[in-house]
Amino acid sequence: MWLFNRKGPSGFSASTTAEEVTEGIDGTGLTAIVTGGSSGIGTETARVLALRGVHVVMGVRNMTAGREVKEAMVKGNPTAKIDAMELDLSSMASVRKFAEEFNSSGLPLSILINNAGVMATPFMLSKDNIELQFATNHLALESGREGRIVNVSSRRHQFSYREGIRFDKINYPSGYNGLSAYGQSKLANILHANELSRRLKENGAEITANSVHPGAVATDLFHHQSFVSGGSNNMLRGIASTS
Ligand SMILES: NC(=O)c1ccc[n+]([C@@H]2O[C@H](COP(=O)([O-])OP(=O)(O)OC[C@H]3O[C@@H](n4cnc5c(N)ncnc54)[C@H](OP(=O)(O)O)[C@@H]3O)[C@@H](O)[C@H]2O)c1
Repeated sequence: MWLFNRKGPSGFSASTTAEEVTEGIDGTGLTAIVTGGSSGIGTETARVLALRGVHVVMGVRNMTAGREVKEAMVKGNPTAKIDAMELDLSSMASVRKFAEEFNSSGLPLSILINNAGVMATPFMLSKDNIELQFATNHLALESGREGRIVNVSSRRHQFSYREGIRFDKINYPSGYNGLSAYGQSKLANILHANELSRRLKENGAEITANSVHPGAVATDLFHHQSFVSGGSNNMLRGIASTS
């Protein structure tokens, strides 16, 4: 409990809410894309950004869920500007279509929150035939005005395969480990943000790229856990605490 409430250099602690962090901030005139806005951390991020006046575009693969979340948010905040647009990160064709649709909306992009992700899936390939966690959590991130890019990574980036990122074995089913592949994709999130940040700076763009570990939050992310843990609750708690 003490650790939970201990404040860091920012003045916030693990128990600080998104509403508290953004208190007093006026986001009017800004537009944010939040991927995976239809559940978990993405929904709360989208809700609070909209509360602060930001126009939020949620990239969601399940449009029914996206519309329901949007309706609930507008019910709670009738002035909220929220849209749900179809985006399946396991398909580069869908990513490109989403980008084209967003560009043709004429909205400026001020904040990009790469939040959507999957964890510890059984070995599967994306629509482009790339290991699913690497494709969803990392590859789909390919991305004058000041802006922010936030990759929602995880402290599990420390638990990738022993070699780090197995570039030459991304699609190998043999030796595949769901949690290591998750860690690999999250390590890639951080390296991507670091390199993007360097390049943006080099090009004089007023855009920052950051990666964040959001802490352990009970969400749908853990629904592949029985695959990982064989259903042991203690093991599940262990995974949740380092996800
Ligand atoms: N929860 C934690 O403790 C924790 C800890 C560290 C890091 N994270 C990171 O936080 C982020 C959000 O996770 P969460 O905990 O909020 O989990 P979540 O509730 O499962 O949310 C994940 C979101 O990603 C979406 N998504 C998954 N695959 C997608 C795809 N192919 N195309 C488009 N959207 C897709 C999901 O859509 P559907 O609803 O359609 O599946 C869902 O909206 C993830 O990047 C995760 O790695 C979470």
